[in-house]
Amino acid sequence: MSTGVLRAGIQGLGVYVPTRVLTNDDLAKMVDTSDEWITTRTGIKRRHIAGPDEVTSDLALIAARRALDDAGIGPRDLDLIIVGTATPDMFFPATACLVQDRLGAKQVGAFDLLAACSSFVYGLITAGQLIAAGAVQRALVIGAETLSRLIDWEDRRTSVLIGDGAGAAVLGPVTDGTGIYSGAVGADGSAGDVLKVQAGGSRMPISSEAIERKLHRAYMDGQAVFKLAVRTIPGLIKEAVARAGWTLDQVDRIVPHQANLRIIESMVAQLHLPMEKFVVNIQEYGNTSAASVPLALYEAVQAGQIRRGDRIVLAAFGGGFTYAACAMIWGK
Ligand code: ACO
Repeated sequence: MSTGVLRAGIQGLGVYVPTRVLTNDDLAKMVDTSDEWITTRTGIKRRHIAGPDEVTSDLALIAARRALDDAGIGPRDLDLIIVGTATPDMFFPATACLVQDRLGAKQVGAFDLLAACSSFVYGLITAGQLIAAGAVQRALVIGAETLSRLIDWEDRRTSVLIGDGAGAAVLGPVTDGTGIYSGAVGADGSAGDVLKVQAGGSRMPISSEAIERKLHRAYMDGQAVFKLAVRTIPGLIKEAVARAGWTLDQVDRIVPHQANLRIIESMVAQLHLPMEKFVVNIQEYGNTSAASVPLALYEAVQAGQIRRGDRIVLAAFGGGFTYAACAMIWGK
């Protein structure tokens, strides 16, 4: 049934995680930690780690092909590819261009988007607006990361949290009342220091001194990130829901960024919603940054937790400090 209103809807989803699995017990052999500490503080039990020859575009490509198959279209049907990543194959060309070439999506527009763990949701909102405006017909939005390459594996504060993976969504025009109803994005650049990789850019090019001081590795003030997330995300979800013209109790499912189970539990308490409404798969993958929301969305759809007609909200936060939420009616 056509409502006459043009929106962007997800028409295909695909994910990929590397086959190598690292459990909490494996990590306890590498750093001074334990399954008990990691489980109670984060909810994480295992994560997938890219092999030595596996790079971000490899993960993105497999997820992209699966999303195209799911949508029943080919690469030449696309008009735009956005790859959300903080771990591109290289500075440039953009990982999106590498994926475009390997997909065989000739001449399709392609660019990377860096909003750390919020990148996929930022990308979805951006592509959704371009489709709703009629500027493009079909877009492929990918969140893909190999955070394992940025981590200091001797630093137990960060190494236990992360995992690698990719998730992709094909977005296209819909007029049946499903699709994206609202997006809310934000950032607080003054909190950039809480999560950063200092060396490797124009401010501090890679040098032996930078490497010795491990400044090319991810630095995180975990407690500061935790506080920013729990202070920001419940309000952001409310904003996306209000902009969609809905009330919170009309929302069937929330797909939050999987950074820490305790952060999700805090959202549950602040929003006064039942835990069952929140999709949680952090135990299997850890924090996969930009891949985390599409991985959780895909699994919820596969498990029948999200069905056609459901009102859902995707919400993410990450380094920057960035945050984004998107309200949609599931249409597949
Ligand atoms: N195993 C055992 N002990 C540990 C570990 C570990 N892996 N990591 C830290 N500890 C110790 C600390 O050294 C500290 O010991 P101390 O009291 O003797 O100094 C103690 O545990 C408590 O440390 P806290 O930092 O206070 O622990 P907290 O409860 O805050 O949990 C955590 C830390 C899990 C990092 C939490 O703050 C968090 O999840 N923050 C958000 C992280 C996040 O979302 N990051 C996003 C991106 S991830 C990335 O890109 C790297």
